[in-house]
Amino acid sequence: MQRNAQWEKRREQIEQNFQLLHKILNRPISRFEKTVVDFCFALYFQLIGNRIKIKVDHNAARMARDIFCKYFPDTVEEMLRELLRDPEGYIQKVEEYESVCPPPMIDFGTETKTFKLIMNDPARQMEETRTELALLSSIISCNGNAYYALDIGTGNGRLARVMENSIRCISGNQKGYRVFGVDLSEKNIEDANTLNKKTGASIVFTKGDMNRLLFPSDVFALVNSASASYLNPKHRRPFDIAEMARVLSPDYGRATVTNPTENFSLKEYSYMMMRSNRKTYLNPMNIVQVMFLGQCGAQIEDLMKARPEMQVTTTNDMMNMLKRTLRAEIVDVGNWPLEGGPPLFWGFTFSVNGKTKESLGRYIDVREKQRKHEDWIPLDRVKAVTVKEYPHTPALRMVS
Ligand SMILES: C[S@@+](CC[C@H](N)C(=O)[O-])C[C@H]1O[C@@H](n2cnc3c(N)ncnc32)[C@H](O)[C@@H]1O
Repeated sequence: MQRNAQWEKRREQIEQNFQLLHKILNRPISRFEKTVVDFCFALYFQLIGNRIKIKVDHNAARMARDIFCKYFPDTVEEMLRELLRDPEGYIQKVEEYESVCPPPMIDFGTETKTFKLIMNDPARQMEETRTELALLSSIISCNGNAYYALDIGTGNGRLARVMENSIRCISGNQKGYRVFGVDLSEKNIEDANTLNKKTGASIVFTKGDMNRLLFPSDVFALVNSASASYLNPKHRRPFDIAEMARVLSPDYGRATVTNPTENFSLKEYSYMMMRSNRKTYLNPMNIVQVMFLGQCGAQIEDLMKARPEMQVTTTNDMMNMLKRTLRAEIVDVGNWPLEGGPPLFWGFTFSVNGKTKESLGRYIDVREKQRKHEDWIPLDRVKAVTVKEYPHTPALRMVS
C-alpha cells in the first residue's frame, strides 16, 4: 500500500491521541477522589459485597500450589522452550497437570451495557491507540495483499471494530481486507455479532481458544490481544504466544499485546479510573454498574494470589521469551500510567522473521497434524471486502 494522505493524517491523529492519553492518565488522584473510591469500595465489598461470595476454591488452590512447581519451570520463557523442543511432550504434560488441577474458569462478561463504561476509560483507549499504531506500521508494508487482521480474546469486539474502522479509513478504495475476532465465551461472541449488525461492521466473529487458533500459518498482517492473555493460565501462555507467532506473517505482520501489570489491583485500577475519567465515575449509577464488573475483577485478583498458574507474566519475562526464545523483534514496549501511581498496564508490539518461524518448526508441524481434526478457517475462501462498501468513516474518539 502506498503511503497516502489518509495514512499520514491518521498517524498524526493517533500520535496526538497517544500523548493526550498519557497526560490524562498521569494525573495524580486528589484526596477527594480517593475518598470517593474508598467509600464505594467499603460500601460494595464490605456491606453489599459481603453477601456476594467470591468463588475461589481454596482446597484446589492448595493442591495446585503443591503440584504446579513439580510439573512446570518458574518462567514462561522456560515453558516456551520446553514446548518448542518437544511440543507433543509439553502438550501431554499440560493435559496431565490439568486432569489433576483443572484451571479455574473465569467468565469475563463483556456485556455492552456495562462494559461500554470501562471501554471509554483512557487506560482502555490506550490499548486502542497502541493497536492502531501497530496497524499503521503493518498496513503500509502490505502492498498488493489482502489485509487480514485478528483480534484474540475479542470480548464484544471492541478492538476488532477499532481495527476495521482504521483499515476502512486509511486503505482508500483499492485494497481488500477482513477482520476476525475470536473469544472463548459464546455469550461474548453473541454480543459481538449483535454489535456487528448495529454498526454495519463485517467482522467475522467466532468462538475459539487463543491456545489453538483455527487459522493457517503466516496469514495475518495484524494480530491483537488486549487484556485477555493474563486470564489464560500461565502454563498455557506458551501456546498463546506460539500461536500468535505462527499465524503472523513474517513479512509485514505485527502483533500487539496488552495486559495488566503485576502492580494491578482492583483498588489501584479504580483510583486510576477515577482520576482519569472523573466525569464518568463521579456518577454513582456508573460506579454501581462498574462494580458488577468489579465482582469478576475481585475474583481474578483473588485467583492471582491463590493459584500459581494465574499469576501475571511480567514484561521482562515476556520480552525474554520473544527476543531470546523466538528471536522475534520487539517493535515497541510501554507501560501506563507513567506517573501519578504505579504502572497498571503494559503493552508491546512485535514482529516475526524467518528465524522465529525456524524456532517454531516442530511446533508448527504438530499444529499442521492437528489441523486434520480441527475445523480451520481457510482465509482464501473468505471474500476480502473492498472499502468501496463503506462510504462513512467514523472519526477517531478523543478523550477530554
Ligand atoms: C477482559 S476481556 C477483554 C475483551 C477485549 N479484548 C477488550 O479489551 O475489550 C478478556 C476476554 O478474553 C476472553 N478469553 C479468556 N480466555 C480466553 C481464551 N483461552 N481464548 C480466547 N478468549 C479468551 C474472555 O472471554 C474475555 O472476553
